[in-house]
Amino acid sequence: MNILLTGGLGYIGSHTAVELLNAGHDVLVIDNLCNSSIDVKDRIEEITDKQIQFIETDIRIKEDIDNVFANNKIDAVIHFAGLKAVGESVQNPLYYYENNIAGTINLLQVMQKYNVKNLVFSSSATVYGTCQEMPLSEDSPTGAVNPYGRTKLFIEEMLKDLYTSDPSFNIIILRYFNPVGAHDSGIIGENPRGIPNNLMPYIARVSVGILDELSIYGDDYDTKDGTGVRDYIHVVDLACGHVASIDKLSENCGLAIYNLGTGTGYSVLEVVNEFNKVCGGKVKYKIAPRRDGDIAEYYASPKKANDELHWQAKKDLHSMCESTYNYQIKELNKNK
Ligand code: NAD
Ligand code: UFG
Repeated sequence: MNILLTGGLGYIGSHTAVELLNAGHDVLVIDNLCNSSIDVKDRIEEITDKQIQFIETDIRIKEDIDNVFANNKIDAVIHFAGLKAVGESVQNPLYYYENNIAGTINLLQVMQKYNVKNLVFSSSATVYGTCQEMPLSEDSPTGAVNPYGRTKLFIEEMLKDLYTSDPSFNIIILRYFNPVGAHDSGIIGENPRGIPNNLMPYIARVSVGILDELSIYGDDYDTKDGTGVRDYIHVVDLACGHVASIDKLSENCGLAIYNLGTGTGYSVLEVVNEFNKVCGGKVKYKIAPRRDGDIAEYYASPKKANDELHWQAKKDLHSMCESTYNYQIKELNKNK
């Protein structure tokens, strides 16, 4: 199939492009490069030995998006493009609503105009809100607690309304848990600008001496060792979940929501200890106060995705840490 990836040079999009190309699909990427770089195109091509088409544009520019659909044969869209920093969304909510929601409305209107009605949307476990029974299933109550999370929830609601009005759409909403890790080649991975907010990229920078020490936010949660527990999923497993979703769309699946997680929760200390096995104990840490807005523990039930997408996460915590370290070392050496 010919698949358009919005935000396809970003962290999850680039790994998905690789898996789609490996599965024999053709890939067209649009990205405004606000959180990625053009080199990623070459790296995807180097890994796969295949070409992708790239157009630098912004989903908020409707004429440009219209031109992309007018000039290319597109069978399905995977919509990654979006801003994702929770803190920034609290500081600048209108930027998030404009980019994520207005951008998505443009995209959907153009898809409808050109009769392209197969969509996979990047949602997040953040839509589940707080105080839930674990594991989280797709039927667990939703309730986002920050502007970023609300953009995901509002888009999910918009997609349900769109599908009700036009059932010729096939829409898969994927709720990602905590994506981490990098491609085995070590040439694509997660490289956030500035100081990372998320655990794994922070640990990675401590492991190579770019940052001094990790602050573990709280060791007094009601969890196995007092530190926060999350369902970390290897980005390559996540990427394969998108290939499985593309297969599902061709069965005329209607609208479906799937959790993409492993079903296993790891604590911050477990992640640090595993990473230290990989890097030779270089991750120093201290215990710091809890971070505002964090919850103690959440992890997925991936059963619905296992059953209906015939997909299962295969990579373990060791592989998540090892691939992250490998990528971090390569990035460091490249910049020397
Ligand atoms: P990323 O920032 O690495 O990738 C997003 C890409 O979209 C970037 O390349 C960016 O340049 C591009 N982009 C942003 N706004 C755009 C616009 N208006 N027009 C065109 N391109 C635009 O993020 P990621 O981690 O790959 O996340 C991909 C999607 O998955 C996002 O929608 C994100 O909200 C969602 N998600 C991510 C996580 C995570 O922890 N990484 C978790 C759950 C959901
Ligand atoms: N943590 C630390 N120190 C750090 C960073 C994180 O101890 O420097 C802890 C957090 O307190 C939490 C765990 O590590 O217990 C994971 O934190 P992350 O910031 O890596 O991930 P979150 O679960 O907080 O949130 C991430 C994204 C959200 C997304 C969610 C689910 O930031 O946007 O995963 O996909 F919604």
